[in-house]
Amino acid sequence: MSRNIIVFDTTLRDGEQVPGAKLNLHQKIEIAQQLKRLQVDIIEAGFPASSLGDFQAVQEIARSVGDTVSITALARAVKGDIDAVYESIKLAQNPLIHIVLGTSNIHVEKKFNRSKDAVMQMGVDAVKYAKTLLPNVQYSTEDASRSDFEYLWGTIEAVVKAGATMINVPDTVGYAVPEEFGHLIYRINDRLKNLNPDVILSVHCHNDLGMATANTLSAIKNGAQKIECTINGLGERAGNASLEEVIMGLKVRENFYGCSTNINTKELVRTSRLVSHLTGLDVQVNKAITGENAFAHSSGIHQDGLLKDKQVYEIMTPEEVGAESMELILTARSGRHAFKNAVEKMGFDTSDAADFEQLFNKFLTLADAKKEVYDHDVFYLVTNHRTLAQGEHQLYELESFQVVSNELHPTATVRLRKGDEILTDSSVGDGPIDALYSVIRTLVGLDVELKDYKINSLSRGKDAVGRVNIRIVYQEKVYTGRAMDTDIIKASAIAFLNGINAILLDATVS
Ligand code: KIV
Ligand code: ZN
Repeated sequence: MSRNIIVFDTTLRDGEQVPGAKLNLHQKIEIAQQLKRLQVDIIEAGFPASSLGDFQAVQEIARSVGDTVSITALARAVKGDIDAVYESIKLAQNPLIHIVLGTSNIHVEKKFNRSKDAVMQMGVDAVKYAKTLLPNVQYSTEDASRSDFEYLWGTIEAVVKAGATMINVPDTVGYAVPEEFGHLIYRINDRLKNLNPDVILSVHCHNDLGMATANTLSAIKNGAQKIECTINGLGERAGNASLEEVIMGLKVRENFYGCSTNINTKELVRTSRLVSHLTGLDVQVNKAITGENAFAHSSGIHQDGLLKDKQVYEIMTPEEVGAESMELILTARSGRHAFKNAVEKMGFDTSDAADFEQLFNKFLTLADAKKEVYDHDVFYLVTNHRTLAQGEHQLYELESFQVVSNELHPTATVRLRKGDEILTDSSVGDGPIDALYSVIRTLVGLDVELKDYKINSLSRGKDAVGRVNIRIVYQEKVYTGRAMDTDIIKASAIAFLNGINAILLDATVS
């Protein structure tokens, strides 16, 4: 019989720690709702002690999707952090407190500067305190893969006796290799079963050596009952184990692993695209499962084989992961139903009827102007509409612009709207984009530094569409802005304004 593996998604906590992947409250809720449709078992919604904004986001997620999905958030082994987690998740039906504390010599000696016994006691006290608040407590032995085994086991034994209900074994720095990590999990599992068979054994792998998926699967083979992953493998440095890869590894090779999950794999590509759009971080084209080319066969030999029988070169179908052609070209005549379907297919919620009506009217205006409306148009329509709704019209919108490019004095004139206020100015720069960004900086009065500017072309439909991605730095934090338009100067201006609006939204919640 197939063993059920519990899937814990940490895109909104470990994934969101990536510089520039900062999400606002609304975007986090959008992702949490899609994770619920994907049917993950547990969502780690954030690190509530880190900021008021994070606390509020975790609380909102617990309220909005915590009816069927278990909600957790991260705490260091200190009372203040544990209280923040409890207060933010307590409205969920099945809340879980997640405590992390290092077990490797390097963590104990360098991070805490305390004796090993004292650090272990900190963990035990933290678990005992968390248990006074909630029955379910996960304990993560940070840097477990570089820890002395007997100290690691001693810690696990002590925190289980203190009441921990899940033990998570992280390969925090992505140092482990599959055989060794599998063996570690085997040894822990062997002892844990005797100590308390009800405690769930979990793993959390990072991808520094490109082995996070392999290490996670090896751990499952060796007894892990729960896995921690992120969508698109997002996460610190080289990222975390990619949820879509681990899940399809288990599904396609069920004969080898003998395990299954509750994941609705048909939602994988949609979830991946939503996370990529909202974080502004592209998925590499040849990424397993969700990359644009994951199901594209270009060589003649392969195409010939596929025409004879798909199984010749296909180990899973695009339909299984939701990668079949998802795009429907909309026009002003498509109607509410088709538009709603397109919005929902991207993972957005349409249950607020008044909000949907406003959105539909904006769609009609766009469809009148553009005639053919593509997925990327719909995506920007929805995200811009929701971002503006959130800021209660205190965010910047582009009213009009003029850019003159020449070799002497490239000049930009820009008119912005912020609520009822109209702001206009001009500036020169080293080039047209520099002039444009210089005048926007002056108009908004924020000293932001442009860190990265990327432009790609999306050649669909009659017009070649330019997609601009920017990253800006403000007060040492990185923010992302994205926009698409047939006019690349306009896309550049809107992407920059979207980055500035992200700063404003961040400031209102943190
Ligand atoms: O990588 C890590 O060790 C973590 C823990 C909080 C589980 O993210
Ligand atoms: Zn991690």
